[in-house]
Amino acid sequence: MEQQKRYGHFDDQHREYVITDPQTPWPWINYLGNEDFFSLISNTAGGYSFYKDAKFRRITRYRYNNVPMDNGGRYFYIKDGDTVWNPGWKPCKTPLDFYECRHGMSYTRVTGRKNGVEASVLFFVPLKKWAEVQKLTLTNQSNEVKNLKLFSFEEWCLWNAATDMENFQRNFSTGEVEIEGSTIYHKTEYRERRNHYAFYHVNTPIQGFDTDRETFVGLYNEFADPQVVMEGKPRNSHAHGWSPIASHYIEVTLQPGESKNFVFLLGYIENEQDKKFSAPQVINKDKAHALIAELDTTQKVDQAFAELCQYWDALLNIYNVRTGNDKLDRMVNIWNQYQCMVTFNFSRSASFFESGIGRGMGFRDSNQDLVGFVHQIPSRARQRIIDIASTQFPDGGCYHQYQPLTKRGNNDIGGGFNDDPCWLIFGTVAYIKETGDFSILDEMVPFDNQPGSEVTLFEHLKISMDHVINNLGPHMLPLIGRADWNDCLNLNCFSWDPNESFQTTENVSEGTKAESLMIAGLFVVTGKDYVALCQKLGKTQEAERMQKAIDAMIEAVKKHGWDGEWYLRAYDFYGNKIGSNECDEAKIFIESQGWCTMAEIGAQEGMVAKSLDSCKKYLECEHGMVLNNPAFTKYIYEYGEISSYPEGYKENAGIFCHNNPWVIIGECLAGRGNDAWSHYAKILPSYVEEKYQTLHKVEPYVNCQMVAGKDAFKPGEGKNSWLTGTAAWMWYTVSEFILGIKPDYDGIRIDPCLPETATDYTVSRKFRDAEYEITIHPNGAQKGVKAITLDGQKVDGTVIPYSAGKHVVEVTM
Ligand code: GLC
Ligand code: GLC
Repeated sequence: MEQQKRYGHFDDQHREYVITDPQTPWPWINYLGNEDFFSLISNTAGGYSFYKDAKFRRITRYRYNNVPMDNGGRYFYIKDGDTVWNPGWKPCKTPLDFYECRHGMSYTRVTGRKNGVEASVLFFVPLKKWAEVQKLTLTNQSNEVKNLKLFSFEEWCLWNAATDMENFQRNFSTGEVEIEGSTIYHKTEYRERRNHYAFYHVNTPIQGFDTDRETFVGLYNEFADPQVVMEGKPRNSHAHGWSPIASHYIEVTLQPGESKNFVFLLGYIENEQDKKFSAPQVINKDKAHALIAELDTTQKVDQAFAELCQYWDALLNIYNVRTGNDKLDRMVNIWNQYQCMVTFNFSRSASFFESGIGRGMGFRDSNQDLVGFVHQIPSRARQRIIDIASTQFPDGGCYHQYQPLTKRGNNDIGGGFNDDPCWLIFGTVAYIKETGDFSILDEMVPFDNQPGSEVTLFEHLKISMDHVINNLGPHMLPLIGRADWNDCLNLNCFSWDPNESFQTTENVSEGTKAESLMIAGLFVVTGKDYVALCQKLGKTQEAERMQKAIDAMIEAVKKHGWDGEWYLRAYDFYGNKIGSNECDEAKIFIESQGWCTMAEIGAQEGMVAKSLDSCKKYLECEHGMVLNNPAFTKYIYEYGEISSYPEGYKENAGIFCHNNPWVIIGECLAGRGNDAWSHYAKILPSYVEEKYQTLHKVEPYVNCQMVAGKDAFKPGEGKNSWLTGTAAWMWYTVSEFILGIKPDYDGIRIDPCLPETATDYTVSRKFRDAEYEITIHPNGAQKGVKAITLDGQKVDGTVIPYSAGKHVVEVTM
């Protein structure tokens, strides 16, 4: 095996990933903020901030498609004599004597040293605050007095990140700022319809400032050598139009051994309509002053940071495993759960692969994200379910996504993705099982946010199931609509026009023929959940009605969906098979293998085992399982976007990490623990981290959406990190199916599926008002619980009945 360069390592004790070389193969980022105010931050302090919505309320500017890639961010320039450097190496790229970036739980600490000076910046968003704190500590580690010139830098975005990038004829004239003491206010468009502004403050008197970008940088200079910094002299520029920025200038003298702290604060404020101004043209700064006062000393900031750390301690104490395998433990206990929080917060909106402009919160995506998050903060999950359901249509169909700021459905990727409705059941059931809170089903929830249209959430679940039943095709399988989980299998869009979106183009009568086996499996899985829920609620008739539909679906799959060695993927518009041995290319697809094995369709007839074997035989490679095999080598007009991708990438035979867990769960249900584990470990970041930092390219501490598949030019190369359903699915798989701790309505079901080599392990699980300390003794078994004791008493079956308080559970396999 090729020896790969390493750029960092895990520090489990601090729950950090420590990057030791700024020139990572791609920017390795982290997320700050957990509720309203958010930031993306790279290992060189690049990135941007926004309030709630990365499109409509962007606070600082970022350039995509840039050269070099990650340009723009929160930069501190330190001028020490003739040397100018940044703690995060960029943008000056002055070689540092020491560099380190520690990405932790909602914070990042970047430290640089140069010529006897250390600059360490702690970045975080305090809980419940609309601000990013940047605590800069400058330390003189030399024997001489240091006279430093410090310049801060942030560039404002003119709020709407989309128009900010295109409407220059207007933008270059609208920019406005105010300067008051050590605070620079950004108030573009505040004079008209906006009632919000932002500010950048430092808790010390400043000796100058700049707010006009061209003055600061120089029209022919770059972030790497801003003219003001190079000259060592601020120009106190006041921006009028063009591109407003915020830069403080501070002169710092440090005695040998001396350290000084500076608290920089990037804040966001909203004012009531009648309190917008304190004088004509002058913004009302009361709330800004108040926010600054809460965070204007090192002590206050340290306190806020301690609270953030406690918050994460509490969250990560809900599910904690000790297996003795560091690589597994750190993913389960730290990074997988952390990534689940991030995907819950952002869905697929803002990352270094998602512009924050193109996509909002996905209906399907956000429902799936819930299974990774619901144990962390159930109340937020509850609200999310209501928000999502509120965008649904009366026939059960959905907008594919909604905007977080307005919570309204948006049509950017259209609707009619026929898997969407089922996911609402998936998310809601996960919530109820975790919390025991059935009352959510009685919540009155509108359609398409229309007041007056409210019905109960339960009714939404019912119409979600019905939406599938009401949209069956010629083989009595679910019509695919625009697409199912695979956004790129667009079987009702025939396009030769490169300017048409594959997802929103409907140029053959939509959904009349093409059918999806993936939705069939999904319907059976979520249908079983729905039936169990109805039984729990005493809705016997409804349970029976749905059971019949499920049975019919199972029969339809067995009859029309089985190809001999695996499940078919779909029928196209003409009724031809997709994902069949009869096809020239893409003979087998992963999605239907995952869902139909999870649904255990045809298990008795041997279909499940054959399907799982076929995944190993045709889909598996060194880096995981590819989506389809062989890859498409040519564009197929009647398939849509899927065959538009070159071989091995994305939906055309990429390793779409998101769907690997489906097969892994299929393996677990079938009791094949060795196979489940080997698939799992292949895409588990900590295992990849150890081997492939350079090849993999993207952050080694989280899953990415896609790894180049075996047909690709460079198999194993990762892309689209962070925002992916993989996070929630990896969590669901390992926590519930591999380690086998599964919340249920009346308690916790214990049913692990492990590799034979697994040794004893213990899971601490907080569940509602109880705390369980569960020790599993696998005894070499892959599956099958023989005996359970709860506080020393034998339990019948595999569910530990819920009761509040602390409990000790012993499980023998
Ligand atoms: C992206 C989308 C997700 C979709 C998947 C496969 O990850 O966010 O909704 O299921 O691609 O196309
Ligand atoms: C593209 C991507 C897919 C994503 C979709 C969302 O088709 O390949 O992964 O889900 O865009 O619009």
